Amino acid sequence: MTQANPKTLFNVRVHSITDLAEDIRAFELVDPKGGDLAAFTAGAHIDIHIDDGLVRQFSLCNSPRERHRYEIAVLNEPDGRGGSLALHEKVAEGDILTVSEPRNHFRLVDDAVRHLLLAGGIGVTPMMAMMETLETVGADYVIHYCTRTPLNTAFMDRLIPLAEQGKVFFHHDGGDPSQGLDIDATLDNPRAGTHLYYCGPPGFMSAAASAAVDHWPEGTAHFEYFTPPEEDRDEPLENKPFQVKIVSSGDIFDIPADETIIEVLRGAGLTIDTSCEDGYCATCMTRYLEGEPEHRDAVLDDEDRAEFVLICCARSRTPVLVLDL
Ligand code: FES
Repeated sequence: MTQANPKTLFNVRVHSITDLAEDIRAFELVDPKGGDLAAFTAGAHIDIHIDDGLVRQFSLCNSPRERHRYEIAVLNEPDGRGGSLALHEKVAEGDILTVSEPRNHFRLVDDAVRHLLLAGGIGVTPMMAMMETLETVGADYVIHYCTRTPLNTAFMDRLIPLAEQGKVFFHHDGGDPSQGLDIDATLDNPRAGTHLYYCGPPGFMSAAASAAVDHWPEGTAHFEYFTPPEEDRDEPLENKPFQVKIVSSGDIFDIPADETIIEVLRGAGLTIDTSCEDGYCATCMTRYLEGEPEHRDAVLDDEDRAEFVLICCARSRTPVLVLDL
């Protein structure tokens, strides 16, 4: 699927703000003129340009069939990187926000026989749009939703009816992960044709990733990070210098071993949107035209990597990488 251009921005109006659970608020965004919004698929996210230079990603959690609104759910994290706090404290109903077109790096697999969704905390947000799509097409699916307590559990009104049908299971650990879902046991024996999707906080992601690597066939486990993946290597990766060529200007830049592409281009006066600068949000996604990137992100799949590179973290396997900038 062709990805939307993150640089295509438009305005939305905050139609409503609703408390969903402790410290979690839903923001309903609509076209200021009442028109349709850009279409999206389940698992997609938008960038929200909150303040000058502050760009954050939020998964869309309403049904992709709805064209008149986007819904996001935001956990207030006072110790986070500022995006969630700004939305909770500075944004009011009626405000205008600038957002990107939806992009999706966490897609449902259409021909899966069955879908197994694991959500940790606010990682449930992309799963809500997935659930809507899976319900629409009558797919076989199960969601395990892990939170600390029922008070921290969002979307109860939409999920309880599905729990009663045996499609959603709630797991509350009271703050002690050992009392919650046994992720390894849940994932240790995948049924043929099942695809796995997981999204949650760092410890949850590590446990799911480890079980997926151990037990799931290649290409059947799909994930989305909203914090940096925990490092799982003994030795740091070796950085080698290379060059980047900018196709629009023909300029060539040296990328030394101790700087990223973004750092060099920014130092040269180019303006490039970034957010995490750690390879897990895809805000810096850039098309490359020649050369072979050394991808170091936790977002792009093989299809994306054939065309795009995340220039906040990638290096190059070839002496020159030509970027479509
Ligand atoms: S800025 Fe987040 S992946 Fe590059």
